[in-house]
Amino acid sequence: SKIKNYDIVLKDKKILITSGRTKENIDPIRYLSNNSSGKMGYSLAQAAVDLGAKVTLISGPTNLETPNGLKRFISVESALEMYEKVNEYFEDTDIFIACAAVADYRPKEYKKEKIKKSDSDLIIELVRNPDILAEMGKKKDKQLLVGFAAETNNIKENALKKLEKKNLDIIVANNASTMGTDKNIIEIIKKDKTSIEINQKSKIELAYDILNEVILVLKKDKN
Ligand code: CTP
Ligand code: CA
Repeated sequence: SKIKNYDIVLKDKKILITSGRTKENIDPIRYLSNNSSGKMGYSLAQAAVDLGAKVTLISGPTNLETPNGLKRFISVESALEMYEKVNEYFEDTDIFIACAAVADYRPKEYKKEKIKKSDSDLIIELVRNPDILAEMGKKKDKQLLVGFAAETNNIKENALKKLEKKNLDIIVANNASTMGTDKNIIEIIKKDKTSIEINQKSKIELAYDILNEVILVLKKDKN
């Protein structure tokens, strides 16, 4: 029921997916991170496998079970580690879906010894992480790129900016207030500015809807 006739298009397609959050270590016992569960990326990976794709899942830490039938599962912690792995597999990929909630910044310095408290306030200096998706947008030749946009306000406007800036084919605009839950409200926007809005579905259902849009773009490019 979830598969809308044209599932055959994804058969043997190489799909690279990032998922989960990243962890940016401060010292041996503290880190910077966010509350992304990884459920959307894992659901996409499972749906893509079930549609016959060869899926490489690069994941930050999650509490989720690894989907069955993946070609590769690569576990990473930091944004820099994730970037390195995406770079390694990007060239041999047909479709890249960046679902991970990558930390935009990391501590400038990792302290090998536990930071001890003092009587004064503490300032931790942060430096920019690479934007993995934007970097792939620069490198892209045959690859179809799908990004997500987690927004709390001006959702569509901000998502469209990211679609253009990162050279994407599809962006999934996400209401960040639903992060980490089973439900989600999203809008799938394509490069030609057409979009569909989807309310309150499970993440596995959303995954099929997103892959359906990917399939539509692939079929259009062929004609
Ligand atoms: N992304 C990425 N690498 C980063 C940051 C983001 O690959 N260092 C990807 C995410 O996986 C997502 C998209 O870029 O597909 C948008 O992420 P988001 O955090 O919504 O946007 P940013 O471009 O980071 O901008 P901001 O957080 O300031 O809204
Ligand atoms: Ca960000």
